[in-house]
Amino acid sequence: MAANDVIGAILEDHAEIKQMMTKVETATTSDAKEEAFHSLVRKLAIHETAEEEVVHPLTRKAPDGEAVTKELLQEEDQGKKVLAELEKMDVNDSEFGVKFEKLRRDVLHHAEEEEQQEHPRLQASVDDGKLRDLTKVFRAAEQTAPTHAHKAAPESATGNMVAGPLVAIADRARDAIRSAMKH
Ligand SMILES: [Fe+2]
Ligand SMILES: [Fe+2]
Repeated sequence: MAANDVIGAILEDHAEIKQMMTKVETATTSDAKEEAFHSLVRKLAIHETAEEEVVHPLTRKAPDGEAVTKELLQEEDQGKKVLAELEKMDVNDSEFGVKFEKLRRDVLHHAEEEEQQEHPRLQASVDDGKLRDLTKVFRAAEQTAPTHAHKAAPESATGNMVAGPLVAIADRARDAIRSAMKH
């Protein structure tokens, strides 16, 4: 099913993220596990950045949207912290498994909150044409962010020298979205 509006695109992402998390958990070699984890980091960095740039600002303006948005942003911040911790760990470490399971539960809960609290508000307060147009802005991030961002030098706008790949990917995704918004 092809997404015909930004909510459809988000639902597709959520399904893909769930599959990617299963792939990390079921990988049988450490190379496969590491590769699956890096793909997941990239996907989550782009997805959450796109939601933060494209849909959360609209949800904030909807009735009761402020509280919903605040909670979603807190969950996204928390998720990024756990991802950044996981990035520093060896995927074969038993602690990685424990932390990853926490991340998986948090990500599933977060996606459910968005589907139940955010999406109905967007549908009710934003017109259909705009929700359709925003699909390409939401997808723009995916096309421009580099696949091998973990090899790129840290270049956070805040000048944070310890910025990891997660931050670097999110920065590039944000730039791509902002430029797509202007068109
Ligand atoms: Fe999110
Ligand atoms: Fe999401």
